[in-house]
Amino acid sequence: MTSTVITREEFTPLVKTIVVPWTPEAAFKRWTTDISTWWPTKTHSVGQQKVKHLVFGSAVGERCYEVWHDGTEKEWGRITAWDPPRRVRYTWYPDRTAESSQDIEDDPTHVFVTPNLTPDPTTGHIYSWSEDDFLARFRKGRLLPIALMPWGAFGRMTDDDLRAIYRYLRSLPPTVNATGEVYRPKP
Ligand code: HEM
Repeated sequence: MTSTVITREEFTPLVKTIVVPWTPEAAFKRWTTDISTWWPTKTHSVGQQKVKHLVFGSAVGERCYEVWHDGTEKEWGRITAWDPPRRVRYTWYPDRTAESSQDIEDDPTHVFVTPNLTPDPTTGHIYSWSEDDFLARFRKGRLLPIALMPWGAFGRMTDDDLRAIYRYLRSLPPTVNATGEVYRPKP
């Protein structure tokens, strides 16, 4: 099969901006201290129905955690930078161990680029992976701590679903597109 060639010029950057009618102070407080008012604990927490409220730390080193009706606490992360209303950074590992933590911070200086998953022999990121390699990679979960890909959710897919995705990716027309490093400084 011949490969389609994609050149850089065909891509325009995807920029998404949302203007909210709030001051930076109010938006910062809503995201952090007031997390209980908007976070969907019934579906996205360790205890789900058992959760009474959430606590978001307000200084470097402080914990973010859920509190159950019976007083049980489950830690979600730790604050690593706190400079309201401009900057907050934290580790994030709800229902996981701190070793598998994500580093949550919007980093305006770097970009993430998703790899070319088409079966192109020269630039296809997974061209040399077997179906079993593909499954094994998903079972490993997130390897780059701050990677945007939702590895946790994808890692819980069944073997059959992952095999189906692999076979689908293999059926795509090969595309020549050297995407380079997945995490790199903004040009
Ligand atoms: C069924 C859907 C998806 C499949 C099959 C898939 C597959 C993959 C594979 C095989 C890699 C390479 C991993 C490695 O080299 O170790 C990768 C990396 C990546 N993917 Fe996905 N992905 C999917 C969805 C997504 C989504 C929804 C996002 C973003 C929201 C995303 C963002 C990324 C990024 C940023 C990387 C590079 C960083 C990293 O390796 O963690 N992917 N993906």
